Amino acid sequence: MGETAKVSFGGTSVELPILKGTDGPAVVDIRKLYAEADVFTYDPGFTSTASCESKITFIDGDKGVLLHRGYPIDQLAEKSSFLEVCYLLLNGELPNAKEFETFQHNITYHTMLHDQFDRFFAGFRRDAHPMAIMVGAVGALSSFYHDSTNVEDPEQRIISSHRLIAKMPTIAARAFKYFKGQPFVHPRNDLSFSENFLRMCFSVPAEDWKPNPVLTRAMDRIFILHADHEQNASTSTVRLAGSSGANPFACIAAGIACLWGPSHGGANEEALNMLAEIGSVENIPEYVQGVKDRRYRLMGFGHRVYKNYDPRAKVMQQTCHEVLAEVGHSDDPLLKIAIELEKIALNDPYFVERKLYPNVDFYSGITLRALGFPPEMFTVLFALARTVGWISQWKEMIEDPAQKIGRPRQIYTGAAQRDYVAVDKR
Ligand code: ACO
Repeated sequence: MGETAKVSFGGTSVELPILKGTDGPAVVDIRKLYAEADVFTYDPGFTSTASCESKITFIDGDKGVLLHRGYPIDQLAEKSSFLEVCYLLLNGELPNAKEFETFQHNITYHTMLHDQFDRFFAGFRRDAHPMAIMVGAVGALSSFYHDSTNVEDPEQRIISSHRLIAKMPTIAARAFKYFKGQPFVHPRNDLSFSENFLRMCFSVPAEDWKPNPVLTRAMDRIFILHADHEQNASTSTVRLAGSSGANPFACIAAGIACLWGPSHGGANEEALNMLAEIGSVENIPEYVQGVKDRRYRLMGFGHRVYKNYDPRAKVMQQTCHEVLAEVGHSDDPLLKIAIELEKIALNDPYFVERKLYPNVDFYSGITLRALGFPPEMFTVLFALARTVGWISQWKEMIEDPAQKIGRPRQIYTGAAQRDYVAVDKR
């Protein structure tokens, strides 16, 4: 046996193997702890617990590193496309030209929804939040595509993965159109993934969407930046749901539900609201003092894993400048506030000592707003992009021989066993 860790408890001593990955901290393998020492471990929020083995994404939060299948996120954002990153996450390697052509064809030809699916949207209230529509509509995919819900069949797993990546933009655009009270726009096979999505969102019967390479590239980059982030809350939700053998459409719907929360996918909306609340550069010192007095938090700052600059934030900042210049909003007052706030915070001992740096959400709200999306759509766009990460992680889990149904333990602190008391005696 290689290196081990010893746990001694109540006169029992157990030697536990130490596992080492390609990078990152060593891991104590506690799987036999309960059987041999009759003891559980306690780790709410999984702050020190690896829930699986994965080959997809690596994060070094202290150094500000994010790698997908080994490739740094900034290189992917600069040189690759969202669809190529989808292939990479799903299959483990970058595609050659032929492989990419086949993949692009498969995704493009799965973008349409069953015609009956459109009637499903009409059941939602006319002012339904687009995320509420996403949770329901994506779950409903399993009722339309039974032929790809057998998780034991590798071919069906691939087809359902392609369907989810392809149909998510169509569903997201329909959720947006429904929210706006505008007619649905069907996908077109001659457009790229991001062009198609922007056209389905912004075309109206009176005026077709006009392609703009800068804005399309920005949309594609935002999708790349949100494609995967290893075992975050929504991804862990997808894995847990999938561990029971549930079909992939239902599992992704569970992931969307988790992403909806303000501590996860909802932060970019909060960051935008905060900039609007600050209102002008002169108000920043007073606002920063309020943060230091713990009256509120600086939204878009800090991260559970990154204790250095979030590598996605650098790319997002550059994309933000490009988009605002293109739409003629370079003098957007919110951008001025964001730049000044970032400068002040990065030099203030309160933030420096706590290792608080801008995260991906600091600039994404301003960028998405300039692209034409209302705040209600921000988390929907995140869900669209993260679908490839969720489905890649789901597929990896199903194909892992060590996979078991996820079943955490607990410390029970409720009432001890007692006898039932009749109602007239209570
Ligand atoms: N503003 C001010 N102070 C902060 C902030 C912040 N944004 N974030 C953390 N701190 C302080 C805490 O008050 C604490 O200080 P203390 O040690 O003096 O008590 C210290 O930094 C550590 O904070 P924790 O809450 O323990 O850090 P945790 O890792 O649990 O929180 C989180 C991470 C939730 C992201 C937090 O930084 C936060 O609330 N940020 C703002 C919301 C946000 O931008 N979320 C987006 C995350 S990125 C994403 O989901 C894609």
